[in-house]
Amino acid sequence: MCGIIGYSGPLDARKILLDGLAGLEYRGYDSAGIGLCMEDSSICVAKTVGKVKALREYCDASVRGTAHSGIGHTRWATHGGVTQANAHPHRAGRVTLIHNGIIENYHELTKKYHLEDKLVSQTDSEVAAWVLDSLYDGDPLEAIRQLMGLLEGSYGFCILFDDQPGSVYAIRSVSPLVAAYTRSGAMIASDLTALIPYTNQYFVVPEGKIVRLTPYKVHVYDAVEGFPKVYPEIMTVNWNMDAAMKNGYPHYMMKEIHEQPEAMKNTILPRITRGLPDFSDDGIPDQLFSDCSQIHIVACGTAMHAGMVARALMEPILRIPVTVTIASEFRYEEPLIDEKTLVMIISQSGETIDTLAALRLAHEYGSPVLSIVNVKGSTIARESDYVFYTHAGPEIAVASTKAYSVQLAALYMILCRMALVRGKFTDKEAMDFLTDLLDAIPAMENMLAQKEQIRQIVSHIIQSPDAFFIGRGLDYAFSLEGALKLKEISYIHAEAYAAGELKHGTIALISEQVPVIAIATQQHVFSKSISNIREVKARGAFVILLTKESSVVDENLADIRIRIPDLDDRFAVFPIAVALQFIAYYASLGKNLDVDQPRNLAKSVTVE
Ligand code: F6R
Repeated sequence: MCGIIGYSGPLDARKILLDGLAGLEYRGYDSAGIGLCMEDSSICVAKTVGKVKALREYCDASVRGTAHSGIGHTRWATHGGVTQANAHPHRAGRVTLIHNGIIENYHELTKKYHLEDKLVSQTDSEVAAWVLDSLYDGDPLEAIRQLMGLLEGSYGFCILFDDQPGSVYAIRSVSPLVAAYTRSGAMIASDLTALIPYTNQYFVVPEGKIVRLTPYKVHVYDAVEGFPKVYPEIMTVNWNMDAAMKNGYPHYMMKEIHEQPEAMKNTILPRITRGLPDFSDDGIPDQLFSDCSQIHIVACGTAMHAGMVARALMEPILRIPVTVTIASEFRYEEPLIDEKTLVMIISQSGETIDTLAALRLAHEYGSPVLSIVNVKGSTIARESDYVFYTHAGPEIAVASTKAYSVQLAALYMILCRMALVRGKFTDKEAMDFLTDLLDAIPAMENMLAQKEQIRQIVSHIIQSPDAFFIGRGLDYAFSLEGALKLKEISYIHAEAYAAGELKHGTIALISEQVPVIAIATQQHVFSKSISNIREVKARGAFVILLTKESSVVDENLADIRIRIPDLDDRFAVFPIAVALQFIAYYASLGKNLDVDQPRNLAKSVTVE
């Protein structure tokens, strides 16, 4: 949450910062601001409520003069409302600062440093800026080192000092920061989308170190006496700017929905050797799968929903307990895990703070951690014992689509390898399973081709304030994601229910024309699901039924039927996911909402 960027170099800092913020905007878009070190060495701060576009317009109209260094911020509000005063950068004496994260002890610091009368915003960030100003006596490294000793919570800061023109300082704890020295100058940002137009080589800012950008170099110092220099490992990113552009699609979400077949291939194919799953290039040993007595999957949101599908699939095959827990709950529980528990962490960004905390807790219990992560070099990836990288490329739309599909693909492959290692699959069964997984890719393509039909359907959904998703078994797990997608981008109140559970309360909410999206792809519970659909239909619901092509159902069971290609029940989620994503997408579009940047949300949730 919140995107931050810093620049020092020969080019126009204002342009670099504004362009970078546009790339980081998906991390938060309540307000945006820049702080520029002008050619006459004065600091100019410009900030506006709203998106980067508004800031750009404001700068064009009001900012005069040239700057070659500066900092920029796009905000997801935590402390204090969405106001101009609460927008970053914050000015405090000789300090100008931007922040991503939460300073938990800001009340104590306000009292200790007698800041009550100085603060003009309600933010924890401004408190940090004033504390730093109090500590500053001309030595930025020393003042920052002292600040680091005082702060509790998470932070990524970029800082300008009035009397240090051309230098941008940065530190981080938990919140992500990557930096690079490029031909265009020195840069630092919350994530690679801001750096990628300039370089494919970067480093992850190590926690506890201080970074200083100058026009000619990026310096990294250990935050101890004498400030010795450190040289972090340089990494290479394997995607380019094209992957982070809309490429002709009206929205990132639409583009990312269409990228799913490719992302699936990129994730699956390099891990098949002679028809069997092979993770030797990932360094994931079979012992990890043979030694465990239970699996505990921990994740948030969509990633957690991928885990719910995996649980429903894994337990019947592996015959060991598989538990799925929401990371924000797991981290405050006393989980029943030990060194024989394989903890599987799922995260697209690899930076979700609750998921990261869950990972650390799992390590405290001695459990080995295997993570499924999309962003290379992210904190979760670095701290895990083993990483299965999904190869979806950058996911920019706030609503996750392609990351979900490849998380599922990863989980299916892990299940297959595990079943093989534990003697639950023969080689032939494992090969067949992988063949079925690959067959899911054309099935997704088939659904992509049905988007026009799905677009027409949503007019029935967007008139209602509520919608229900129902299914049994795996279909219920798929429904959870369908409901989340719809609510987060169309603001329609959407709930997923296990179809058999409806009559224990929820069916009271079904009335004339309430949309019910019913998923019935699982043969062993098919007739039961159909009965549940009849129950809602009998109460006037508007039923949109998703079933396989060959499933035989009464003509009047549903108002609308979406047919997914015939494939093994276990793989139905892949085309179903595409259909549910389109339903959400077109509902958002139909309501004239911001598909890619829905209200109150941000892509990377780095606060608790
Ligand atoms: C919903 C969505 C979120 C994320 C969740 C976890 O569309 O994207 O629910 O799935 O915030 O994020 P990651 O996977 O980055 O840990």
